[in-house]
Amino acid sequence: MKILVVGTGAREHAICQAAIKDEETELYSIMSNQNPGIARISQFKIASENDIPTVKRFALDNKVEMAIIGPEAPLEKGIVDSLEEAGIACVGPTREAARIETDKAFMRDLFENHNINGSLVYKVFDKAPEAANFIDDFNQDVVVKPIGLTGGKGVKIVGEQLKDAEEAKKYAKEVIDTKMGGYAGVVIEERAIGEEYTVQAFVDGKNIASMPVVQDHPYAYEGDQGPITGGMGSYSDIDGLLPFLDKKYCDESVKIMKDTVKAINKEVGPYRGFLYGQFMLCKDGPKLIEYNARFGDPEAMNVLPIMQTNFMDICQGIIGGTLKGAKFAKKATVCKYIVPKGYPGNAVPNQIIEVDEENISENNSLVYYAAVNQKDNKIYTSSSRALALVSVGETISEAEEVCEASTKHVKGDVYHRKDVGTGELIEKRIKHMQDILGND
Ligand code: GLY
Repeated sequence: MKILVVGTGAREHAICQAAIKDEETELYSIMSNQNPGIARISQFKIASENDIPTVKRFALDNKVEMAIIGPEAPLEKGIVDSLEEAGIACVGPTREAARIETDKAFMRDLFENHNINGSLVYKVFDKAPEAANFIDDFNQDVVVKPIGLTGGKGVKIVGEQLKDAEEAKKYAKEVIDTKMGGYAGVVIEERAIGEEYTVQAFVDGKNIASMPVVQDHPYAYEGDQGPITGGMGSYSDIDGLLPFLDKKYCDESVKIMKDTVKAINKEVGPYRGFLYGQFMLCKDGPKLIEYNARFGDPEAMNVLPIMQTNFMDICQGIIGGTLKGAKFAKKATVCKYIVPKGYPGNAVPNQIIEVDEENISENNSLVYYAAVNQKDNKIYTSSSRALALVSVGETISEAEEVCEASTKHVKGDVYHRKDVGTGELIEKRIKHMQDILGND
């Protein structure tokens, strides 16, 4: 079957690898620069994934039968609506259904209107003085969120990026005045305190099949220090849970996602594709922080390598509304992102890196290329994440040791977080959660 994967990063490289495990797959891709991993396994075109007419032309010229959409930006632009109109089945939500990620006011209102558990106190404003009054009256730390997409850079939290309520009010005004994220509005939410985790699911409009829970590490430097990034690495455990998260809380999170899918169906029609729930386990249970209408990056690289169900059967189930559960090996995984020095914000692009794939493979690790460009058989960095290394083991600690050993096979002006998946960091997470829940 002719399959088109739209997107350029490590998440899309992992999706492509999962798709070609099915011998019937003939793989095509659209990517904005030459990802060496995707290039070697697909017939590709270099074009922006947001250039929908070009994506559609490429798909039609090659008689593609199914498109799998990686990133959120083309979903917001209506890539699925456009490809479906042209008769191409899509794994990805329509523009309206993708509002669960692209319109944070829609998401919170959906929870309120459909009585879905796990929401937070929130209010949406289009006038700065009203937002300021709410912040003053609320008298607790808040989170200020632009309504639309901001590439992960728009959300600011009092106590982290914002010093106090005064800074929150100033930032809320800036969000409204500059129409940050494309809306002259802002969402103000209560600040949740706890440990974050990611639940990903396949969704066919009605049924959902959840995947092992993953924890990402958004801060750039070891010990959760430094600026927020796209994610520096992640881990998952053999039982599909996390050392600080038991089955009860996992089941509650999946139930929140099921209820959300039902509510989206009622409001705007069926949601089909991958759904990413970013949760925080708080004193009174799981809270939904935000949704993404796609796989997580790096979280896709934890789950896809250990998936035992044929990925293309899952995609057929998503399209046909016949999704059954997905099976995963009982293995732990650790993913570490290798990023250019200076990332995020100050990386010097176009630096050559050397990736010794043979030795990485001999060391039982996988390589997923991200924002790098291949030219004349050399790999050049950009200002974003370069590649992800993934190892699978009987324990998180075993996977971590193997993954860390593989990092020495990448040479160049790069760095990574050595602490992702280490016993010390996981103990810190468990202790933090025990303190919050009041357990011994
Ligand atoms: N793990 C962060 C993201 O996928 O957006």
